Amino acid sequence: MSKKAFITGVTGQDGSYLADFLLSKDYQVYGMVRRTSTPILERLTNILSNPNFHLVNGDLADSSSLIRLLNEIKPDEIYNLAAQSFVQTSWEEPILTGDYTALGVTRMLEAMRLCCPQAKFYQASSSEMFGKVLQTPQTEKTPFYPRSPYGVAKAYGHFITVNYRESYNLFACSGILFNHESPRRGLEFVTRKIAHQVAEVKLGLREKVELGNLEAKRDWGYAKDYVQAMWLILQQDKPDDYVIATGETHTVGEFLQAAFAHVGIEDWQTYFQHNPAFDRPAEVDLLIGDASKAKQVLNWQPSVTFSDLVKIMVDAEMAILQNQAKVADF
Ligand code: NAP
Ligand code: GDD
Repeated sequence: MSKKAFITGVTGQDGSYLADFLLSKDYQVYGMVRRTSTPILERLTNILSNPNFHLVNGDLADSSSLIRLLNEIKPDEIYNLAAQSFVQTSWEEPILTGDYTALGVTRMLEAMRLCCPQAKFYQASSSEMFGKVLQTPQTEKTPFYPRSPYGVAKAYGHFITVNYRESYNLFACSGILFNHESPRRGLEFVTRKIAHQVAEVKLGLREKVELGNLEAKRDWGYAKDYVQAMWLILQQDKPDDYVIATGETHTVGEFLQAAFAHVGIEDWQTYFQHNPAFDRPAEVDLLIGDASKAKQVLNWQPSVTFSDLVKIMVDAEMAILQNQAKVADF
């Protein structure tokens, strides 16, 4: 019989790729969506008519909805990907961020403990927890020093997952994922923003790309690789936590330069404008992960290089702008 997977955050970048991946493995996939005045399902257009894919209604802020769903579905695997995931917004909405991104994890874990304690649980932890890094590269043992309300909330979500594993013997795991990107990334995140605005400059639709801090360094991978790691984490005999990263770091400026170079523009400074509105109250200057444990235990490694990622993203934006293509086609 097919396994059943329950995904929160299915409308997001990772949730939509994870749903594609699990459907290709013959899972019955239940994707939780929250009520919005206009449904935003554009990342799911390629699977909405798949009979093995089921949209169900619930919200991380509402325990009763989580308990109702887990009682009805009794999933084998739970992937908790829903969160207020944009770091900048976490300063503007710190309480909401704490409610969804921190307490939401406890609500999910409690629902699982009450309704389906035999299920396996994946928590979407983040390299943002390392913040002002205390060790380089960062591993599963590096202490956390979060630098944003989002990072603080993720650290809570991480530790409550560890705590439920140890308190109740649940199969509860965390993937500490470094930044991962794709054409399905939200337009507010820096890689998609750069890819989109560089494509607009190339096509004569915009004069300059407007960004904040170009000096921050990130370990950027490809989202499709990273959802496979989530699944692998839940296929192990024992629950554990894993860093998922490429082991390579680049500045935002390098991403920008590479994106311009890909469309044949070498004098990128001519087309760049600093906008202080995109600077952050506290910055995470350097992230670079050591995914040795994932490589050794999960046999996982990334397949897409930094320069390939830049090309994938810029080509997708050029295609969208030129052909009005749908994001979910990529
Ligand atoms: P994303 O594209 O922003 O998706 C976030 C998802 O959460 C959306 O489906 C959103 O639904 C849902 N959501 C937000 N609040 C909710 C609530 N109260 N109840 C139910 N659903 C809610 O994020 P992503 O990039 O796919 O990331 C997935 C997860 O991994 C997040 O937890 C993120 O913090 C974490 N993470 C991401 C990265 C990365 O580089 N992408 C790295 C480390 C960790 P709507 O569509 O309705 O808004
Ligand atoms: N978004 C954005 N917009 N970031 C900018 C801009 C801009 O105009 N200009 C410079 N940046 C810098 C930010 O200051 C940050 O240092 C870096 O670009 C990356 O920003 P984001 O793409 O917004 O990602 P993030 O690193 O803050 O957070 C992402 O990765 C985390 C994992 O480390 C998100 O996906 C989080 O949900 C995730 O946990």
